[in-house]
Amino acid sequence: MLCDSYTAHRMNPPAIAIDGPAASGKSTVAKLVARQLEYTFINTGAMYRAIAWYLAQQGISAEDTDAIITVLPDIPLQFGKEDSTSTVLCGGRKLTTELTQPVVNDSVSVIAAIPEVRAFLLQKQREYNKNEPVVMEGRDIGSVVFPDTPFKYFVTASPEVRAARRAAQGLTDSIDERDKNDRSRSCAPLTQAPDALLVDTSNMTIDQVVQLIISDIRIKLAK
Ligand code: DC
Repeated sequence: MLCDSYTAHRMNPPAIAIDGPAASGKSTVAKLVARQLEYTFINTGAMYRAIAWYLAQQGISAEDTDAIITVLPDIPLQFGKEDSTSTVLCGGRKLTTELTQPVVNDSVSVIAAIPEVRAFLLQKQREYNKNEPVVMEGRDIGSVVFPDTPFKYFVTASPEVRAARRAAQGLTDSIDERDKNDRSRSCAPLTQAPDALLVDTSNMTIDQVVQLIISDIRIKLAK
């Protein structure tokens, strides 16, 4: 595992922040970077999705901010990990396909705009990095969750390429609308942190993107 020289003079183990819009390829890349470095992979989108799924189960509308804030502390979610990958359990049940249900795709960006929801998850996200190095994927990881990490990557692709990638996954959710919501919210919007490395994956293979990010991490770790 690559982190000794870095952690020797810093308090927390390394946190690699990988942000970007939907279907930019960031999840695939983040997983592979985590695997190569032997760091834990954390999918923060799944955390927001789990809340959206739970609220839908309870019949609570994504627009009902007051009700959401009231139930938030009592949602029986557990954020864990299995095989070096984050997991989300609700009432002891591991959530997988539930997280990509249409009702979740449609409501998650509205729920993710609620500052109380973000504050609740922020704390859980940071906990993952207390004792171990992580590759964390999301929208605000470099800007809000780990603003001090030197390892920030903003992974993007042209709208055409992203739409084609989504279609190839067999998914037809409206990524444009979700991205618009994610970029325009006032609390922790989807944004490229000023010190993040921009990686446009439109004309790159997955392997090229992974190698680019790993070599940047290695250079910074060696400093
Ligand atoms: O990465 P994803 O598509 O699974 O994310 C689902 C939604 O959650 C997306 O609309 C934006 C939101 N999200 C967020 O606001 N902040 C994060 N760190 C991760 C996801």
